[in-house]
Amino acid sequence: MRILVTGGAGYKGTVLTRKLLEQGYDVTLLDNFMYGYEPVMHLASNRKLAIMKHDIRNGIPDIGSYDVIFHLAGISGFPACASNPHSAQLINVEATRQIAKDLSPGQMLINASTTSLYGKSGMPCDEDTAVDPVSNYAQTKLAAERILHEKDNVVSLRFATVFGFSTRMRMDLMINDFVYKAVKERVIVLFDSFAKRTFIHVEDAADCYIFTMNNFDRMRGGVFNAGGNSMNFSKEEIAEKIRRQVDFSIVNSEVKDKDLRHFIVNFNKIEKLGYVPSRTVEYGIEELIRIYGFYEYYSHYRTI
Ligand SMILES: NC(=O)c1ccc[n+]([C@@H]2O[C@H](COP(=O)([O-])OP(=O)(O)OC[C@H]3O[C@@H](n4cnc5c(N)ncnc54)[C@H](O)[C@@H]3O)[C@@H](O)[C@H]2O)c1
Repeated sequence: MRILVTGGAGYKGTVLTRKLLEQGYDVTLLDNFMYGYEPVMHLASNRKLAIMKHDIRNGIPDIGSYDVIFHLAGISGFPACASNPHSAQLINVEATRQIAKDLSPGQMLINASTTSLYGKSGMPCDEDTAVDPVSNYAQTKLAAERILHEKDNVVSLRFATVFGFSTRMRMDLMINDFVYKAVKERVIVLFDSFAKRTFIHVEDAADCYIFTMNNFDRMRGGVFNAGGNSMNFSKEEIAEKIRRQVDFSIVNSEVKDKDLRHFIVNFNKIEKLGYVPSRTVEYGIEELIRIYGFYEYYSHYRTI
């Protein structure tokens, strides 16, 4: 089986690629390496890995030769899309349109979508809840999902906000950012502390991609929230969980957050198929405290 991971040098892609290699698969990692090469150096000598430096805006070379395509490449998250709206449209939407066009019926494509599509919906959102994409990021991800699902050999995973350590660290993600501030700055300023989000550890996210590949026939053509029912928390609840492990101050700001997201997500659909994440927020907080303590010169990893 030939597997392609687009965005394989990214926060989730590096962890997914490592796990696929550990399970003995042949993997091609495609990325334009906008965040550098270092995140994949630990994988580069693996005989089962081919690395392709390529920009998906130029299509995917020899796309028909892959049995499974994990499509993760993109401009990811509210801050990065807000500062690069043109690139977000070209990469997240137009390049995905080309991939959809070039996809053959016998292939499997697993698409990295997001629970950000639920915007400020508030109460429990399942896959039938009306979407409410309040950011440019969410709008591009919704457009990509709709384009891809014109084909029936696609599964979209609407991921919770990911946390935990990856060799391509993302510090714009809420838990990663909060723990960093708690450890290094000893203060977290909360905007809209009531706002609820949903979370998944990066290792669990990678397991969820592989679960989807292994259950593709049962999931084919579907959209699934990817996370766990026990992982919905407000910003204040996350800050309090961190405070149980580190001493720091919480300041509540009167200023409204520019990021309007507020939702609880229901994960029954994927849970019924047998996928439940196993790592807790507490596990991730402990891991991040150790990591941030270790890297004296952590600014090296402070990329979004
Ligand atoms: N991290 C999360 O919380 C989260 C949640 C839901 C969905 N997602 C989605 O999962 C995917 C991966 O997210 P991530 O957190 O790993 O982000 P990331 O930014 O770390 O990874 C994206 C990767 O895509 C690559 N890339 C960007 N533009 C490219 C192009 N034109 N051609 C080739 N490669 C390109 C980047 O170099 C990067 O390695 C994204 O599609 C994102 O929207 C992420």
